[in-house]
Amino acid sequence: MSKALEGVKILDFTHVQSGPTSTQLLAWFGADVIKVERPGAGDATRAQLQDVPDVDSLYFTMLNHNKRSITLDSKTAKGKDVLWRLVKECDVLVENFAPGALARMGLTWEKIHEANPRMILASVKGFGPGRYEDCKVYENVAQCAGGSASTTGFRDGIPMVTGAQIGDSGTGLHLALGIVTALFHRTVTGLGQKVDCAMQDSVLNLCRVKLRDQQRLDHGPLTEYSQFGEGIPFGDSTPRAGNDSGGGQPGRILKCKGWEHDPNAYLYFITQAAVWAPICDIIGEPDWKTDPGYATPKARLPHLNEIFTRIEAWTMKHDKFEAMDILNAYDIPCGPILSMKEIAADESLRKTGTIVEVEHPTRGTYLTVGNPIKLSASPSEVTRSPLLGEHTDEILRSVLKYTDAEVDEIANSGAVGRIEKIAAE
Ligand code: COA
Repeated sequence: MSKALEGVKILDFTHVQSGPTSTQLLAWFGADVIKVERPGAGDATRAQLQDVPDVDSLYFTMLNHNKRSITLDSKTAKGKDVLWRLVKECDVLVENFAPGALARMGLTWEKIHEANPRMILASVKGFGPGRYEDCKVYENVAQCAGGSASTTGFRDGIPMVTGAQIGDSGTGLHLALGIVTALFHRTVTGLGQKVDCAMQDSVLNLCRVKLRDQQRLDHGPLTEYSQFGEGIPFGDSTPRAGNDSGGGQPGRILKCKGWEHDPNAYLYFITQAAVWAPICDIIGEPDWKTDPGYATPKARLPHLNEIFTRIEAWTMKHDKFEAMDILNAYDIPCGPILSMKEIAADESLRKTGTIVEVEHPTRGTYLTVGNPIKLSASPSEVTRSPLLGEHTDEILRSVLKYTDAEVDEIANSGAVGRIEKIAAE
């Protein structure tokens, strides 16, 4: 079976997390992703949060699978020559440098488009055009500026960032969609185009339900928020809603058996209207099925704290998996709070390739995420991340067709770095 993006060549000028997320996804689908890194140092994440001395960090390996690495100093004349050969040879250039950095290397959209009209130029920046367009941006800045932090956490606490990397990885996912869309459009027009994703915009796109609530506030209180049931007035912007469910079906995180010593002995429980009757039976409150104070979703809104306290008295008698089994039999929507330790050991996730073990020449075996998007006719496999400059020679020769003498000349000029040796795999 062929890979979906086989034959697509990506000039991967990305670093840290947002850009590499995008190109890793394309690589999982079979694109030939050529990661260009600075000789000697490479992507800064290779050396960040290192758990094993002198071994590429998990931060790097988990974002750069299925890629090839060429080291190239884009600020030298020879390095620039090689870069332009890559521009002419590849289908897509992906970058997430600080604003202006790509242009300072001489790679403006106009010049790229002139050199290779079919090339797609895909960029991540922190902000789109406007007040903050020149700012360097990292994950949590994007979460704050995109509306996530102001709407995450508890009403009486400070704004919170989330563990999901919606600013970096979230923007990378948006960018990947932009790239394949532009590739599709190119089949019609024959021309490349620019794809721009701002991290603020991507976070906001993921926070759209909070923008929805902002507008609903003009027409009255947000009745599904706990604060409504608690009689606390709303201000003029979407408040933090703790663990309330965002979909209008009240939900909370509830303690399960063992919560006193296990920080993840919790269950998310949704009191979906359609299954109110079995919920009442299970928790031992059959009268609530017909009691006018509890029988309808609207009637229940002022009593949500009382209702969830009662449900929690039931969940605390069961461990989260037992509770899941009992509730699932009645289609009551609920989910266990899974720790990373539990997820790492999850057999189903390993079977589907969502979690995979990878062998690395200097690290040994490690665990990583695989492609969460499954295509029926184009399966993707995860191969290890490249060592710094591992494929410099190979790319110069086989992709750019330099002769052996030219490769030596380029290497001797210091424009590229070659890897000395790779430990036996
Ligand atoms: N050869 C020579 N120079 C290279 C090079 C190479 N192969 N690769 C990068 N460089 C240079 C760039 O030309 C730039 O030089 P300049 O500033 O003199 O023009 C320099 O390295 C650094 O690039 P920069 O992007 O500014 O890195 P940084 O570490 O200072 O900033 C970010 C990191 C992430 C904050 C910044 O890149 C950024 O804001 N990116 C956009 C938003 C983003 O993606 N953020 C999330 C990251 S997960």
